Amino acid sequence: MESRKIVLLGPPGSGKSTVAEGVSSKFSLEDLYMGQVLREQVAKETIIGNIVKEYMLKGELVPEDFIFGLAYLLLSSKDNFLIDGFPRTLKQAEYIDGKGVTFNAVLFLDVSEEEVVRRLSNRRVCPSCKAQYHLLFLPSKEGENCEKCQTKLERRADDDPETIKTRFREYHSKTAPLIELFMRKGLLYKIDASLPPKGVLDETVAALNKVFSIQESPKVEAEKEE
Ligand code: AP5
Repeated sequence: MESRKIVLLGPPGSGKSTVAEGVSSKFSLEDLYMGQVLREQVAKETIIGNIVKEYMLKGELVPEDFIFGLAYLLLSSKDNFLIDGFPRTLKQAEYIDGKGVTFNAVLFLDVSEEEVVRRLSNRRVCPSCKAQYHLLFLPSKEGENCEKCQTKLERRADDDPETIKTRFREYHSKTAPLIELFMRKGLLYKIDASLPPKGVLDETVAALNKVFSIQESPKVEAEKEE
């Protein structure tokens, strides 16, 4: 089997990690989260963590120099993965390409800003096992506690309204240009992320089936989103 390297791209709160959790095991992909890697550095109070914390709390992208090293460690020795949160700038895409990491497809979760604000303001996360919930769409069966490990759920530190606005500004100015880049490379698959979770999952599974069947039978014409 050839390598399977998939990127999840989309605005903050578009459902990237929810989708990653839903499809990774089905396609034997390791799910990787740049945001989670950074939050772990912050929690452990490493030198990197103490520096990147201030950017994350403000909702700004972390400077490239920190991301380059972490991305290389995360991706360079892996063959089958689904990564959420990298690349997030044209420079990051250029950097990892230069390191010989070539992606098979980029799944772009397309959803309006209004909808993601609604999602982020009602998100709850488990500080212990990192499970994610939504007060309306995906509530924990244990109420205010995590249904997997019973820890009290929290709101993520960057989910307050002002920080969400900054995260969006960063997304539009620095991350959105990647859509055009990956479209030109013929790698972009658009997913309607305004659908309920099951609909988004079904579209993602269909897109990945298409990606991998193309990979396994090179003569099949790729039918991609323009
Ligand atoms: P990161 O953790 O990657 O945050 P993000 O991109 O802002 O995305 P989120 O995790 O908030 O949302 P998501 O799209 O995963 O949606 P989710 O599935 O949780 O990055 C955090 C920070 O780290 C950045 O701001 C930056 O500072 C830094 N960083 C990370 N990578 C970097 C990089 N490469 N370069 C520089 N800095 C970097 O869903 C959200 C909510 O909606 C949940 O409650 C969920 O249950 C619910 N939901 C999901 N899908 C649906 C649906 N279909 N319908 C209804 N509700 C839904």
